[in-house]
Amino acid sequence: MKTLEGKHIILGICGGIAAYKSAYLLRLFIKAGAEVQVVITPSGKEFITPVTLSALSGKPVISEFFTANTGSWNSHVDLGLWADAMVIAPATASTIGKMANGIADNMLVTTYLSAKAPVFVAPAMDLDMFAHPSTQRNLQMLREYGNHIIEPASGELASHLVGKGRMEEPENILKVVEDFFAKSQDLAGRRVMVTAGPTYEKIDPVRFIGNYSSGKMGYAIAEECARRGAEVTLVSGPVAVKAKHPAIKVIDVESAQEMCDAAVGAFPSCDAAIMCAAVADYAVENPATRKIKREHDELPVIRLKKNPDIAATLGAMKREGQLLVGFALETDNEMNNAVEKLQRKRLDFIVLNSLNVPGAGFKTDTNKVTIIDNHGQSREYGLKDKTLVARDIIDVLREMML
Ligand code: PMT
Repeated sequence: MKTLEGKHIILGICGGIAAYKSAYLLRLFIKAGAEVQVVITPSGKEFITPVTLSALSGKPVISEFFTANTGSWNSHVDLGLWADAMVIAPATASTIGKMANGIADNMLVTTYLSAKAPVFVAPAMDLDMFAHPSTQRNLQMLREYGNHIIEPASGELASHLVGKGRMEEPENILKVVEDFFAKSQDLAGRRVMVTAGPTYEKIDPVRFIGNYSSGKMGYAIAEECARRGAEVTLVSGPVAVKAKHPAIKVIDVESAQEMCDAAVGAFPSCDAAIMCAAVADYAVENPATRKIKREHDELPVIRLKKNPDIAATLGAMKREGQLLVGFALETDNEMNNAVEKLQRKRLDFIVLNSLNVPGAGFKTDTNKVTIIDNHGQSREYGLKDKTLVARDIIDVLREMML
């Protein structure tokens, strides 16, 4: 069976010795059933001719914003939408730097900036260039944007020096892309519920008790589930982010009680629920129906009552085969508190994030998590973009599904 049958791949080629391997990579993509559009940088053409590449791909190679003989415009936006994946191999230090910083001065980088599809970057350069802090920082930025970096191998380089910087072999690049697509529908036929964002507990018609959750983490999880083929119900507190994938059905709620009602309603028909919302533990016992005025002599006293613990409620309802995932947002005694929540709420695993780690927790685009499962196994991850954290969480969920 052709593993990439019908897939649209943009092959980006930059100016480096490894460009000669791109022709072979292109052939492998075509043999695997993909349709390939080559986009090459001006310096890439110094290393491999467009004639070879267009003969192999069966399409004219794109390099400039305009095609010289016809004057027609090559739309990077249309190309970006057409692609199921963009693979940049070889990716030079210069292009990696431009991609990291949005320097859109050629067709390849503008196409990258417009691409909605997953992007794979296979760096190739001399060992010192690869090890340089600026290259490493740029690669880290690309990782944080959600790109897949295909690490270069070690070996003899074009300079005859030996070290890390050789572009990964075309067969291995093909395998990474094949694996990605194989995994890309691994939640097909599954239903997943995700809670996200804060809850607001009314004090009076103009004020509430809330928290700093932006919804970014929960929405990234919902998008990842949908991208991998699941039907997603996203129970969301008030947030500014919007769900993009059509397979995500959003139920907007405000208070913890409303979130609980929606989650309890949706959970029975789901295979898994991921409780990422930052739920207020207390609500105001008697919210005022009119605005509380400051002119009163006495300071108002706001009495609180306990909100339902939504995760624990679902834990008590959970039937055989359903998976329940919680989060723990901690400042102290982090591991013990997370394990206590895992057990008390009958979770299958818990995602611990800490407010003590810069770049983790509320509002940031990144997070750093440790996943602890109900067999006591824990996996610690590095600081990364929330889209990649979502991918790690869903990988663990998928492993646990029957
Ligand atoms: O939205 P972002 O800005 O991207 O931030 C992401 C996040 C920090 C909110 C997220 O990563 C996170 O940690 N979410 C859980 C926050 C939280 O409320 O943690 P907790 O330790 O208080 O709660 C433990 C678990 O029980 C959570 O799964 C929570 O959803 C759930 N819970 C808590 C209280 C309650 N009354 N009902 C619940 O279901």
